[in-house]
Amino acid sequence: MSVPLLDLVAQYQTIKDVVLPALQSVIERQQFIMGQEVGELECAVAGLLGVRQAVACASGTDALLLPLQSMRLQPGDEVITPSFTFFATAGAVHNAGGTPVFVDIDPSTFLLDPAAVEAAITPRTRAIIVVHLYGQMAPMESMLALAGRRGIAVIEDAAQAIGARQRIGGEWRSAGSLGLAGALSFFPSKNLGAWGDGGMMLTQDEALGARLRKLRVHGGAKQYHHEEVGTNSRLDTLQAAVLLVKLQYLSRWNAARRARAARYDHAFTGHPAVCPPRVDPANEHVYHQYTIRAERRDQLAAHLKSRGIGHAVYYPVGLHLQPCFAPLGYRQGSLPATEAAMASVLSLPIYPELTDAQQDAVIAAVREFYA
Ligand SMILES: Cc1ncc(COP(=O)(O)O)c(C=O)c1O
Repeated sequence: MSVPLLDLVAQYQTIKDVVLPALQSVIERQQFIMGQEVGELECAVAGLLGVRQAVACASGTDALLLPLQSMRLQPGDEVITPSFTFFATAGAVHNAGGTPVFVDIDPSTFLLDPAAVEAAITPRTRAIIVVHLYGQMAPMESMLALAGRRGIAVIEDAAQAIGARQRIGGEWRSAGSLGLAGALSFFPSKNLGAWGDGGMMLTQDEALGARLRKLRVHGGAKQYHHEEVGTNSRLDTLQAAVLLVKLQYLSRWNAARRARAARYDHAFTGHPAVCPPRVDPANEHVYHQYTIRAERRDQLAAHLKSRGIGHAVYYPVGLHLQPCFAPLGYRQGSLPATEAAMASVLSLPIYPELTDAQQDAVIAAVREFYA
C-alpha cells in the first residue's frame, strides 16, 4: 500500500459541498479584495485563539515581516531565532533590516532552548522569534520572562501551530497569543490551509494591530494617504471564504492528528533505533508534523521510498549553514543539537484523513527496515 505524506484531495472530498458554495458566493459578489469574509475570518480566529487583533495578510512570511518592520530595526540590530526552522523565520529578519542570531534547540523537542537564547542576548538584541516547530509550543514562560526583564520583544512564529496550546499559570494559552505579535501561515499543507497563499498576524496590542492593518495596505488608514511606507499584503476574499469553512473543522482535525500521533508513539516507544518526538507536559501538540529521530535516517528514507511511503526531512540544512548567511560566520559545529537534528529527523505521514490501514503500513515499513 502506498501512503502519501499528505493527502489534500482526501480532505477536499470531505468539505467540497460546503466550500464550493462559499466560493461561489464570493464570485457572485465580485468582492475579491477585502470582502466581508476577510473580516469574518479575522474575528473568528481572534475569538478562537484569544487575541485582541487578528490581521489577515498574504502569507506567513509577511506575517513575520510586517511586525518586524513595525519595529524599525536599525543596521546591526539583532534578532534571535532558531536555525532549525523554515527559511522564512530568518529571511524576514534580514528583509526587515536586522541581523539574525541563530541559537540551538532542545534536542528532544526540537524547540528553542531558553538557556541558549539567554546566552545569545547582547545590548543589540531587539527581538526573539520563538518558533512553535511541528505544532508544539516552545517554552513561552521562560522566553517571556527572559525577554521581559530586558525589554526585548517576543515574536511567535506559529506558522505550524494554529490551535496549539500551553498551560501557563493554570490556564490554556494559544500559540501566537503571548508575544508582542504572532504569525500564522495558511499555506495549503498547514493544519488550516488555504487554496493558495495566506497568513495572519496576531497581537494583544491594539495600537500594533492598527499599525499592521495599515502596513498591509501601503501604510495608510485612508486610501491614497500614507503615514508610513507599507506594502500590498492582503488575504484574498476567496481564500478567506475557504478558511472560514475549514476553521469549523480545525479542532476536530487537530484532535485526529493527536490520535494518529498517539498510535505512532505506541508503535515506536522503546524501539532501539527510532525515537518518537517528546511533548512537554505543559503542551497540547497539534502535530503539523510527526517527526522521529532515526538511526541511519537516509537509508530508512530510501527504504520508505521503495515501499511507497511518503516522508520528508524538515530540515536538512540549518539556516546557520545556508550560503546566504555565510557572512554571519557560523560554521559546521556552531550549533551541535541543530546539526544532530538535521542528520536524524524524519517526518512521517500524519493528517486527519490518514486511515488505520495506511498508518499500519507506515509503521510496518519502518519496523521492517530495522528488523
Ligand atoms: C515555521 C514557518 N515559518 C514561516 C513560514 C512561512 O509561511 P508561508 O509559506 O505562508 O509564507 C512557514 C511555512 O511555510 C513555516 O513553516
